[in-house]
Amino acid sequence: MADRSAIVTGGASGIGAACAERLAADGFRVLVADVQDELGRMVAQRIGGEFVRTDVTREDDIEALVDRAGSLDVFFANAGVFGALGPIEQTVADDADRTIAVNLRGTLLCLKHAVRVMRPRGRGSIIVTASPGGIVGGVGPHVYSATKAGVAGLVRSVAAEVREYGIRVNSVVPGAIVSPMTAAVLADDPADLDAAARAMAPSPLVGRPGAPGDVAGAVSFLASADSAFVTGSELFADAGYTNAPGPASFAKGKFAGH
Ligand SMILES: NC(=O)c1ccc[n+]([C@@H]2O[C@H](COP(=O)([O-])OP(=O)(O)OC[C@H]3O[C@@H](n4cnc5c(N)ncnc54)[C@H](O)[C@@H]3O)[C@@H](O)[C@H]2O)c1
Repeated sequence: MADRSAIVTGGASGIGAACAERLAADGFRVLVADVQDELGRMVAQRIGGEFVRTDVTREDDIEALVDRAGSLDVFFANAGVFGALGPIEQTVADDADRTIAVNLRGTLLCLKHAVRVMRPRGRGSIIVTASPGGIVGGVGPHVYSATKAGVAGLVRSVAAEVREYGIRVNSVVPGAIVSPMTAAVLADDPADLDAAARAMAPSPLVGRPGAPGDVAGAVSFLASADSAFVTGSELFADAGYTNAPGPASFAKGKFAGH
C-alpha cells in the first residue's frame, strides 16, 4: 500500500475525479470524499482508492474523513457548487446560505481538520480550488464569486499561520472547465458534457474548452515535494483566462501617438 495519503473532496466528479486519478498515479493512497455515493465509489475503484461519503457542510463528516486517512499528506479541498444564480435583486437568502455552507464554510472546516492531523507530523500540503469568479467580475454567479474570493483569502490567512508547522496551503484556479457543474448551467443537464463543450468558447491557448485533466498537473505539483517552497500562493491552471477573459484589444497596429 502507498505510504502517502491524499484526500480529495468533490472527488466523485469533474476536476476532483481527474485530480484523484492523477494523485493515485503519483503514488498516493487516495480517499475520494463526496456526497455522490455511486460515482464516488466508481472513481475510487478505478484508481485503487477508497470512497468515504462526506458532506463538507457537516463537520463530523470531515472529522471522520480526516481521521480515516491516518497519516495525511495532502488534502485537496475541491468540493463546490455554483449554488444561487441570477440577478442580485432576486438572490434568495437560503440559497446564498447553502452556497456559502458548501464553498466557504466547508472549505474552512476542511482546512481546520487537515491542519489538526498534519500539525503533529510537521508537514502536509493543503490545496483549495478557487475560481476566476473570485478574482474578476462577471464570470461567475454572485454568491459563488464571493465564496471563491473568500477561499482565496482563507488560503492566504491560514498559510501564514501554519507555515511554522511545516504545512503548506495553496489554491489552484481552474479556468472554464467542462464538467457536470458547468454543464448544469450551460446545457441545463449536468450529464450533457458534449453540449457544455459546444456552448463553451474554445480556449485560445489550446483551441478547445478546458477539461478536468487540465487542472491535474497543477494539483500534482502543489501536492509534490517540487513545491516545497511554495505556500500562500495561487496557481492559475486556466490557459490565461483570469488574466484576460476576453481578446487582447490593443494587440493590433504599430504605434499610437506622435
Ligand atoms: N468547472 C469549472 O469551470 C470550474 C472553474 C473554476 C473552479 N471550479 C471549481 O472546481 C471545483 C470542482 O468543480 P467541477 O467543475 O469539477 O464540478 P463537479 O460538479 O463535477 O464536481 C463537484 C463535486 O463536488 C461535490 N459536492 C458538492 N457539494 C458537496 C458537499 N456538500 N460535500 C461533498 N461534496 C460535494 C459534488 O457532488 C461533485 O462531485 C469546484 O469547487 C468549482 O467551484 C470549477
